[in-house]
Amino acid sequence: MLFNQKWVGALSLLTSLSAPALADVAEFEELPNANHIFNAIQSTLRHWGSGINSNGMSFFLASVSEGTQFYHGTGAKDPVQGIQWLAFKPEHSLGFAHRAGSRSFAKREASVESSEQQPLGDTEEAIELNAGGYLHTYAAARDLRLLYIDGMSGGPGGGAESQDRILYNDTISSDRGSGSPNIGGPPQESQRAAEACRMAKEDWGGRIDGVVRTEGDFEIIICEFERSLDLVYITQTKPQESSGGPGRHGRGKGGKGGKGGNGAHGPPGGPRPIGDLKSFTARFDESLGQKVRLDFDHFVTAYSYGLDLFPDNASRPELGHIPIEKLHPIRQDVTNLLKTWDPSLNAFNWQAIADMFVYQYSDVLKTFAAGDFSSSKDLRDQIEKLLEPFIDYRDFEASDVIINRCATEWIPTSAPSNSLGGRAVRSISQRVCSTLTSAMMNKDQDLETAVASFKDLISYLRWTTWYVSDSNNAVFTLDV
Ligand SMILES: *[C@@H]1O[C@H](CO)[C@@H](O)[C@H](O)[C@H]1NC(C)=O
Ligand SMILES: *[C@@H]1O[C@H](CO)[C@@H](O)[C@H](O)[C@H]1NC(C)=O
Repeated sequence: MLFNQKWVGALSLLTSLSAPALADVAEFEELPNANHIFNAIQSTLRHWGSGINSNGMSFFLASVSEGTQFYHGTGAKDPVQGIQWLAFKPEHSLGFAHRAGSRSFAKREASVESSEQQPLGDTEEAIELNAGGYLHTYAAARDLRLLYIDGMSGGPGGGAESQDRILYNDTISSDRGSGSPNIGGPPQESQRAAEACRMAKEDWGGRIDGVVRTEGDFEIIICEFERSLDLVYITQTKPQESSGGPGRHGRGKGGKGGKGGNGAHGPPGGPRPIGDLKSFTARFDESLGQKVRLDFDHFVTAYSYGLDLFPDNASRPELGHIPIEKLHPIRQDVTNLLKTWDPSLNAFNWQAIADMFVYQYSDVLKTFAAGDFSSSKDLRDQIEKLLEPFIDYRDFEASDVIINRCATEWIPTSAPSNSLGGRAVRSISQRVCSTLTSAMMNKDQDLETAVASFKDLISYLRWTTWYVSDSNNAVFTLDV
């Protein structure tokens, strides 16, 4: 008896608690471009999502915990000083080390190397004849503070647009003789690295160690190796057969400085270090990305500036048509972000929440949009099964309550409530749950109209789970 009374008491408490929750729904305002921002959050530091949303539009504070290991492949046996690239996977760096070793052999043989891709401090004299290259393993000397540029920002494809226009203010040129310091790799990549590090020092108050980008692997441009990293060890790599000079296929294949951003200069299927492409499909991709933590509560995205990023119904966001002055406020906000917020290793993980929501509803929404139902009642019954955990059958008509319970299932009550990441995720979960709820509630709706509401939802959401790719992961197509 006592138990029952307590239970009844608890129930009435719950009922009274649902009042403010109801108000939340009424006051909830959908974030403009929430679909794109949600997909950006879900795609960060993942090759699948970054391949689909390759034109990144967002800039995140990022951090790496002290001691996390990274790699650099080179022809030089001494620790790196100054600006260079770090890879997340040793296989990626091994490719550069192998090429560096083989290149030195080829160079001695034929003296045909162009000098423009020599990285700093990596002179020919430092390299023994056909000695193989060197794989350097470094660990973060302390918790690192970084800027993450989303999309395929290290290539291939047009993924460099957000950095070139927004961050670098159109100063990166394809002119080889631009006079920027030569640190290895293709000239534009040297310019980007040099400019990012200049900004880190002069514009961002020396508050960040470098920039994280996605290419075939993930990479970090570190501005001062000697300050941000501890050397763990350097190994000499296996000498490679000199079969006509690996490292000389195509322009700018890396240079021998362990240049990580080579992917920008060739299709994904082109010659590149062993191991690069595996991460496109491997499950460990997600774990690999965990070397870096992002702050989804404080970030800057071009989607929140009222710009027309999809001119003429473009399928992917574009910046090329936007006058540079309109991009300056975004750059200023990146500066403000970097100067006022500390990246946190414990920032709330909105990507994990987005994942749970997508995994829960991705297949079922696709099924509803396919429309293979015997009647509209059949569809409504299936939706009801899905939503039953959120329905109080004493009050079946309370659609706002149902929507709110459904939309917040994966959101801890302690989550930051009004941050950019939080608003994007809530906007999407509300949209999905209200489409489901209204299709379930509306008994007068015919099947075709109900199915159309799911088709519309899917074309709005464009979740990465609904894409298929060609065998090279070069072309992604929405498959619903
Ligand atoms: C961006 O470049 C323009 C020239 O195109 C220059 O006038 C302006 O000062 C630059 N802005 C910044 C913040 O560097
Ligand atoms: C863009 O798409 C909308 C909706 O499909 C259509 O009404 C509009 O005419 C299109 N605009 C252009 C410029 O193609």
